[in-house]
Amino acid sequence: MASLTVRQLDEKLKTLLRLRAARNRRSMEDEVRVILRQAAEATGLEALDLIEPPNPAATPQPARPAVAPTETRRVVLIIGGGIAAYKSLDLIRRLRERRCAVRCILTAAAQEFVTPLAAGALAGEHAFTDLFDPRSELDVGHIRLARDCDLVIVAPATADLMAKMAGGHADDLATAVLLATDKPVLLAPAMNPQMWRHKATRRNLAQLLQDGVRTVGPNAGEMAERGEAGTGRMAEPMEIAAAVEALLAPAASALAGKRVLITSGPTHEPIDPVRYIANRSSGKQGHAIARAAADAGAVVTLVSGPVTVPDPPGVTVTHVESARDMLAAVEAALPADIAIFAAAVADWRAAQTSGQKLKKEAGDTPKEGFRLALTENPDILSTIAHLKDTRPSLVIGFAAETERVVEHAKAKLKRKGCDWILANDVSPESGVMGGDLNRVHLVTADRVEDWPTQSKDEVAQMLIARIAAALALPIRKDAR
Ligand code: CTP
Repeated sequence: MASLTVRQLDEKLKTLLRLRAARNRRSMEDEVRVILRQAAEATGLEALDLIEPPNPAATPQPARPAVAPTETRRVVLIIGGGIAAYKSLDLIRRLRERRCAVRCILTAAAQEFVTPLAAGALAGEHAFTDLFDPRSELDVGHIRLARDCDLVIVAPATADLMAKMAGGHADDLATAVLLATDKPVLLAPAMNPQMWRHKATRRNLAQLLQDGVRTVGPNAGEMAERGEAGTGRMAEPMEIAAAVEALLAPAASALAGKRVLITSGPTHEPIDPVRYIANRSSGKQGHAIARAAADAGAVVTLVSGPVTVPDPPGVTVTHVESARDMLAAVEAALPADIAIFAAAVADWRAAQTSGQKLKKEAGDTPKEGFRLALTENPDILSTIAHLKDTRPSLVIGFAAETERVVEHAKAKLKRKGCDWILANDVSPESGVMGGDLNRVHLVTADRVEDWPTQSKDEVAQMLIARIAAALALPIRKDAR
């Protein structure tokens, strides 16, 4: 197909085109493509059946249009060289189903697993492979590839590609685009578990996270190598697509007018006037969710235990101390459309609280030590999830676990009667309790999504985007 040179157009036409491209936030070349596509489509797609299919060797462009008019978001998908590359072909379809125009870049190693032709045919635009391909450089160019998009995805992100990214290499098209982009980058790592565990990969991952890169997966499971299992499988295309959706979702007004009730922070259970039972929750995650819900247009009530983080702006905050106070405040805040229970509620309180400070010598069996009798607190999440008339239509809990995170979360989902659980590893090594990063798994009745390690603000935004997406869908079992 002949290439098009915008330079040859007359000045007036060029100005009009420039204005139209700027208005649509596209490059001029992209705008020309859209105009041509719309004009061609107006002749009827069935006309394609009347002509001979193009010779794929001579013409790598597929017959289908590059960007359907309904595809409003643009992503660059970099396919790295790993066996999981075959899943990236399905990812292209999943992304296009979600109104994303996809431009593919294949590394040299990726082409050992999948062909540019297959990727291009699914994407509806020829796949890019070569940094020094004069046709690609004149047509789009690696800088424009890096910038004319809303998100860059790397799937599979191999250990080698991650190492190159962490080191700032730019010796092929994929790494040059990754270095030149000013857009968010999402990695879907995939490699052998030993490579994933290797100190070098851990170092590179830590560097990339610090650089603001997001990750989805890898998941645990069987490896392509016979008899090998562990963490290293690339996240499933649907999980990657959900992560993309969350990163691209327009947050503003997504929850306009919805009433959202959130609990956050620890509870303090008094023993006497100066002592209490508590936990290490900082309230950062619950407060971030309240902030993100308010930013998305929701009417938010936050019931917060004792925390040092400030009240989020634009949110009605009720401050409480104990689990029983928290339950009362939550019940008083109903009705709500959505309830999110992020508080780390103390499961137990002192069976009796003393009006005066307990004295050491007052213990009647000092040699055996002091014994504190405990009694169970009400389960706020379970109470609200089991309400008949005033149950919010979406009830979301958290599961703070230190082992077998997803397994425990699945059991909690059933036991507590909520719709979703955000499970996170709060073991001391994870640094989640009190820290700024979080890695959660969204557990619903029929699936588990592994979310990338990201800041608590990003987790909050991703959750709000998932809620907005669920509310926009027809009522489903997992999104009531
Ligand atoms: N929760 C609650 N009221 C309680 C205990 C927990 O509302 N008395 C909520 C938390 O806010 C969270 C979910 O239940 O959304 C799970 O909390 P978690 O501490 O992980 O679980 P527990 O119910 O305490 O169970 P376990 O201690 O056995 O893990």
